Amino acid sequence: MKDKVELLLLCAEVLVALLVLPSCVYTLSKDEFPTEFVFGASTSAYQVEGAANEDGRKPSIWDTFAHSDNGNLYDGDGDITCDQYHKYKEDVQLMANMGLDAYRLSISWSRLIPDGRGEINPKGLQYYNNLINELISHGIQPHVTLHHWDLPQKLEDEYGGWVSRRIVKDFTEYADVCFREFGDRVKYWTTVNEANVFAIFGYDLGMLPPQHCSPSLYFNCSKGNSSTEPYLVTHNILLAHGSASRLYRNKYKGMQNGFVGFNILTVGLAPQTNSSEDITATQRVQDFYHGWYLHPFIFGDYPETMKKIVRSRLPSFTKKESNLVKDSMDFLGINFYYSFLVKNNVQMDHRDYMADMAADLIFPDGTPFEEVPITPWSLQGVLDSFKNTYGNFPLYIHENGQQTPRNSSLDDWPRVKYLQEYIGCMLDSVRSGLNVKGYFVWSFLDAFELLSGYEFSYGLYFVDLKDPSLSRQPKLSAKWYSDFLKTRPMDPNVTMQIQKNNSPMLDSL
Ligand SMILES: *[C@@H]1O[C@H](CO)[C@@H](O)[C@H](O)[C@H]1NC(C)=O
Ligand SMILES: *[C@@H]1O[C@H](CO)[C@@H](O)[C@H](O)[C@H]1NC(C)=O
Ligand SMILES: *[C@@H]1O[C@H](CO)[C@@H](O)[C@H](O)[C@H]1NC(C)=O
Ligand SMILES: *[C@@H]1O[C@H](CO)[C@@H](O)[C@H](O)[C@H]1NC(C)=O
Ligand SMILES: *[C@@H]1O[C@H](CO)[C@@H](O)[C@H](O)[C@H]1NC(C)=O
Repeated sequence: MKDKVELLLLCAEVLVALLVLPSCVYTLSKDEFPTEFVFGASTSAYQVEGAANEDGRKPSIWDTFAHSDNGNLYDGDGDITCDQYHKYKEDVQLMANMGLDAYRLSISWSRLIPDGRGEINPKGLQYYNNLINELISHGIQPHVTLHHWDLPQKLEDEYGGWVSRRIVKDFTEYADVCFREFGDRVKYWTTVNEANVFAIFGYDLGMLPPQHCSPSLYFNCSKGNSSTEPYLVTHNILLAHGSASRLYRNKYKGMQNGFVGFNILTVGLAPQTNSSEDITATQRVQDFYHGWYLHPFIFGDYPETMKKIVRSRLPSFTKKESNLVKDSMDFLGINFYYSFLVKNNVQMDHRDYMADMAADLIFPDGTPFEEVPITPWSLQGVLDSFKNTYGNFPLYIHENGQQTPRNSSLDDWPRVKYLQEYIGCMLDSVRSGLNVKGYFVWSFLDAFELLSGYEFSYGLYFVDLKDPSLSRQPKLSAKWYSDFLKTRPMDPNVTMQIQKNNSPMLDSL
């Protein structure tokens, strides 16, 4: 009898797995989304513009990093990359042909204001005006990020950049220039891209610019303090956002009617086992990774878990600061690629952010090296958890996409499958009442990738670096996305191939 019950339970589990796993909506059409839902593609300035030393642009901390061997992680730099600086007209034409509603780009702060504050570079101003005008004249909405990890080197040298409170004033003045010069045409602003990754990789691990960390903790950083700076930097980022957002509301919103949002990398999280330690650790990682920003934006303070663990190393909000940050976010931009299993790992010695979080993030078994596993249900999980914890505020998926080796085939089935699965699941989320307002594929072009240089790429268009004219060639994913955007029937060959194609779908998350 007991065996029978167990067998039944097992069958039930298998059945549930079958029902839930092979994901969401299959017959997919843009028509099924609300008419105001925006579909686009993303890039960032340093990754596609090139012209790094032209027309008065000065270096950002990414130029410095790329020109000192990228921390020995990979080769290459953004000096030329896709040369969008000179080829923006061609690129906007491709976007228009593809049927994009929107293009997510970033402004290079050190192109517009080469020393970080003070004089505006007229050629930089001209470039962004040209690009924005070109987009608008093709009916494409610009969604603009102000800081995509590329702080002007001058401010890093002068006062330590984001570790100093002085950044708040300089960032606000930079934002003021952008709102004033471009805000008649740009309605969607994001102050800071992937703030959490910037703080963790730049100031705890020291792996990415500006390469701060405590001596001999992870990398050989020449400066930094991993036990304090990630928290300090995040505090200053929150204040800078709050200050720019307040400025916009006071000075521009009435005339321009735009929105000022923020962006973090979100990850799917599931406990590695059902032990109460791993379950608690998963909640703790949620707080450290997402709540670090969302809690202040929604409630005006850091999560209790963080306050308890980090104690005096976590800056505390004054009443004034709390008011500045709370409710300052008009929307949240989410970048989503990966999911992790969480294993509790409490260390006695609280040396840095990672040790404070006290958990290992583990790629599930079967995670391939070259491709991102497809786990759209874990994006749904993230969206649901935000709604439950913080309310149903407006969200954009700012980045989502599949990595393939840079040289691999133009028939990029893994990317087509990835996009189809994620967009399908997102439709379920929208139908279930989640406040998702738009979706951007990372990336429009094969860019200089900040984590892998030119070894891997995410583009809908291949950019041939061996061709002096840097020709763009559409991949299958470009055709697929375009068919979707233009509500053309999907090529049955493609649909068949997607079903056959065995890109990994990890079910352990
Ligand atoms: C980092 O800052 C903390 C708190 O101010 C201090 O106790 C510690 O010695 C510093 N560590 C390093 C490596 O400078
Ligand atoms: C740090 O520097 C030492 C000595 O130069 C070197 O042996 C070691 O590999 C470096 N570590 C990292 C992570 O770069
Ligand atoms: C945790 O428990 C649930 C329900 O009993 C089960 O479905 C799941 O497989 C378990 N997860 C792990 C990682 O053991
Ligand atoms: C791309 O392919 C070329 C020639 O096959 C090779 O030399 C180059 O290293 C490859 N680049 C990458 C990033 O794999
Ligand atoms: C489907 O694929 C086959 C074989 O690659 C090709 O001959 C055929 O023309 C394709 N059909 C369509 C509708 O593209």
